Amino acid sequence: MKLFDTHAHVYDKAFDNDREAMMKTVWEVCDYVVCPAENLETSRKALAMAQQYPHMYAAAGIHPQLTAQATEEELDGIRKLAEENDKIVAIGEIGLDYYYLYSDIETQKEWFGRQIDLAAELDLPILIHDRDAHGDTLKILKEHQTDRLRGILHCYSGSLEMAKELIQMGFYISFAGPVVFPKSTKLKEVARELPLDRILVETDSPYLTPPPFRGRRNDPSKVRYVAEEIARLKELPVETVIEATRRNALAIYQIAE
Ligand code: NI
Repeated sequence: MKLFDTHAHVYDKAFDNDREAMMKTVWEVCDYVVCPAENLETSRKALAMAQQYPHMYAAAGIHPQLTAQATEEELDGIRKLAEENDKIVAIGEIGLDYYYLYSDIETQKEWFGRQIDLAAELDLPILIHDRDAHGDTLKILKEHQTDRLRGILHCYSGSLEMAKELIQMGFYISFAGPVVFPKSTKLKEVARELPLDRILVETDSPYLTPPPFRGRRNDPSKVRYVAEEIARLKELPVETVIEATRRNALAIYQIAE
């Protein structure tokens, strides 16, 4: 049984010189990869890659950092793409980023809310990016709660308390490279405490490369270092973590094996 990388930007220009060769090594380690997008253009790129590989799926959406340039036409384009293509299994990544503030807070909140509504309309899960915006992220999710609201907190960086609340709301918590960093003591505690049936693993490639490759380009094959760290923290065999996270990912993305 191999891994499920729930979040990897494999269309990124960092892979332009060796994408096919890189993906060959990925399938030696991963059974599935989901490629999220940042805007309409990258939603199309993510979909094109998903159409190329039977076990790759895509998400379509506008990243909070790119909401300043977002337009109605772009949102319509994303809706159309998701409606017409079974390989789009989520709306994302969407959310709030108060660290960079490339778009002002009100603009980010507006597009986050509108894309949550779009996901409900299409009955798809959402992929949530939350950087330094934990309070507002939770607040907006609560304001938009319906029986169709579900999804993944990608590259989770919040508290244990917030993670438990999100799990109660039906969300999954996804861990990336930072959980492997030796200094991430709080995050390691969150991973240790959360139930295995609500945890996912991802790389967020090409970013956030885990040790022992830190400083180099990340790719989905390195998701095994995230699974290994979670296994170590939970004192479980790595196979148990691989199997559970893979099963969880298939469930939230509604992918039939
Ligand atoms: Ni991402």
